[in-house]
Amino acid sequence: MNRIVTLDEFIIRRQKDYPLASGELTGLLRDIGVAAKIVNREVNKAGLVNILGVAGAENATGDMVQKLDLYANEKLIECLRNSGECCGIASEEDEDFVPIPPVVGKPSKYVVVFDPLDGSSNIDVNVSVGTIFGIYRRVSDVDGPVQREDFFQKGTELVAAGYVLYGTSTLLVYSTGRGVNGFTLDPSIGEFCLSHQNIQIPSRGNYYSVNQGYYLKFDVEMRRYIDHCSDLNLRLRYIGSMVSDVHRMLFQGGIFLYPNTRKYPHGKLRLLYECNPLSFIVEQAGGRAMTCNLDRILDISPVDLHQRVTIAIGSPDMVDEMKEFVMRYKAVPI
Ligand code: AHG
Ligand code: MN
Ligand code: MN
Repeated sequence: MNRIVTLDEFIIRRQKDYPLASGELTGLLRDIGVAAKIVNREVNKAGLVNILGVAGAENATGDMVQKLDLYANEKLIECLRNSGECCGIASEEDEDFVPIPPVVGKPSKYVVVFDPLDGSSNIDVNVSVGTIFGIYRRVSDVDGPVQREDFFQKGTELVAAGYVLYGTSTLLVYSTGRGVNGFTLDPSIGEFCLSHQNIQIPSRGNYYSVNQGYYLKFDVEMRRYIDHCSDLNLRLRYIGSMVSDVHRMLFQGGIFLYPNTRKYPHGKLRLLYECNPLSFIVEQAGGRAMTCNLDRILDISPVDLHQRVTIAIGSPDMVDEMKEFVMRYKAVPI
């Protein structure tokens, strides 16, 4: 039998690859792993303890907030606040970023951005949801509180990013910029165990993932590309939880699209909390991620904490093909 490698052990092993590493990032990743286990526990028993359903409020970007979103948000903030390895957080659920004072006087150099629960409309019907996170090194003076510029960094500046998928099993996938690795939670021992080493996205796949219900609201070039996917007999899969759709694509290949619509003229998905971390992971696995205007997601300079962008993300050959469609049809009048 192969020896089990736990997430903690793996992270510590990796730290030894960086002789100058202080252990702060290692500690932060471990704390996120702990928060993921807590959220996982609640997601699993959500139906039993009456935390399903809409909490009745709207989040900072105008979506209805589910009770479990709030719970996951609180737990993540609590874990990061107590960890001492993080000096500020920005969450999809909070209007502004939250500075975190140093624990035992030691200033930290990292900020964390996250979507505490992605795909929250799926909770009530027992379908997969996830947590997405990104970690940046702060750029402001380490002795003062965090500043806006610490969060307004391009995705290329991510030190680490990852996601947790609460699916048929619970999986944590992360990258520190040297490949992508996945860990499955073994509930019998309460540990994330290395299950997917050095994940590589297939160069193309048989799936495309888009909310086809909005087809008529998409620009002509996106409609032509979606028609092309259909002509190729690609299988349409759309869970309504980006993290789950991107996860499938990471392993089986494919493309995920969220173009602009009339309701969301700049796209729906958030640059900081969803698109950047998942683009970092997908690029690290050999894939591509760009906007429907063909800008690389990771190169966008954020101007708003809750900025939305359009996205096409997935297998490199398929994203390249989408790019050709955009270049061919963009100027064509409808
Ligand atoms: P969240 O639950 O964090 O608000 O995110 C939901 C997002 C994303 O996960 C998903 O792909 C998309 O919204 C679905 O939007 P539509 O229902 O408009 O397709
Ligand atoms: Mn989300
Ligand atoms: Mn969310």
